[in-house]
Amino acid sequence: KTYKIGYFVGSLASGSINRTLSKALIKLAPEELEFTEIPIRDLPLYNYDFDADFPAEGRALKEAIEASDGILFISPEYNRSIPGALKNAIDWGSRPWGANSFARKPTGIIGASPGNIGTAVMQSSMRSVLSFLDAPQLNAPEAYVKFDADVFGDDGEVRDESTATFLRHYMEEYGAFVERVLDANAPGHI
Ligand code: FNR
Repeated sequence: KTYKIGYFVGSLASGSINRTLSKALIKLAPEELEFTEIPIRDLPLYNYDFDADFPAEGRALKEAIEASDGILFISPEYNRSIPGALKNAIDWGSRPWGANSFARKPTGIIGASPGNIGTAVMQSSMRSVLSFLDAPQLNAPEAYVKFDADVFGDDGEVRDESTATFLRHYMEEYGAFVERVLDANAPGHI
């Protein structure tokens, strides 16, 4: 059995370390997980005037979330919170009211920073947002990545075995979590 994972990279920067991390995670993930990026770059800034007639970018985003078995967020921390571009994408996916695409979707949150906090505070903010959106979250393990350019190659190669083992374990646990939530969401369960 394979699972479709839609992933968000919370950075628009050309040299994004979180994009590099996303490549590493995809390489290390169990082969049952198939990854498709859900792009956020071309979304307008959301406001509810769009609800009457969602633009193509907003519809494509919601369709991509709904077509995914699980969602993975790989994001930097901006000023101890969620980068605006990613928060905007989440706002799009959550609307119109009553048509929240994230409801019951199994989610994982991971991020890299050059600093020691490793996006921990962003991840905490994300947990509040995803809780409100009724999205189950992988609670453990947590993964706060202090990015080291000597460890992560641009193509997703991980040159340090303990880092690779840690990230491989994270992705195995994420995959098992997606499977559990899908089973629990299946018809026949109360
Ligand atoms: C940052 N950075 C940062 N880092 C961190 O650990 N905690 C933070 O709160 C912030 N705040 C912050 C705000 C803004 C506006 C910027 C531009 C940067 C530094 C950040 O971790 C660093 O730039 C990373 O390289 C961003 O990830 P990407 O875009 O390279 O994936």
